Amino acid sequence: MNLGFFASGSGSNFEAVAKRCLSGEITATPAMLICNVEGAGVFERAERLQVPSYLVRREDFTDGRDFAARLLEILHEHRVELILLAGYLRKLPPAVLRAFPNRVLNIHPALLPAFGGKGMYGHRVHEAVLAAGCRITGVTVHLVDEEYDHGPIVLQREVEIQKDDTPETLAARVLEVEHQIYGDAVKLFVENRLSIERGQVRILGGSIL
Ligand code: GRF
Repeated sequence: MNLGFFASGSGSNFEAVAKRCLSGEITATPAMLICNVEGAGVFERAERLQVPSYLVRREDFTDGRDFAARLLEILHEHRVELILLAGYLRKLPPAVLRAFPNRVLNIHPALLPAFGGKGMYGHRVHEAVLAAGCRITGVTVHLVDEEYDHGPIVLQREVEIQKDDTPETLAARVLEVEHQIYGDAVKLFVENRLSIERGQVRILGGSIL
């Protein structure tokens, strides 16, 4: 199965999943990466892993339809079957979502539906979690619909908050869990072990953890 990644930043999640594919543990190919931020760290990682990468920015297109068409052109050229959002700080155009129904995953550094939505990304998430006095936070992988950080949940894993945590220390521990859980979710998808019934994901074939 060919995977298409979208990222905006450092790309550590991209690298973690791509490496598990390249090692043969996940039977999928990291086929391409699209990034919307010039010079983002993810480009260097893509080059190192020999994954074709593209800079595609909404602001370079006057018409949103042309932007969506360019994304679809790249996705189709690489025969992508599953899209992975890995720190992509934009919504995918509806035309792309329609072309990949239930075939777009996202990772979020909190336990959705709490601490998600527009503008809730990066350190803002961890600051909000600490400000709320939460005892636990975690990571969510979900199928993507047209709302930010919304759609059927595939996997979640919790991370305990320690009393001296700062947004930085918490982000680092959460990121480690992200690197495990995203690949786990992709593996389930690739092995055809996810079924969606009435808006909820069921994992087939017993526990994976
Ligand atoms: C991660 O925290 C991810 O959950 C969020 O954006 C961050 C991306 O980190 N959506 P990286 O670019 O994968 O290192």
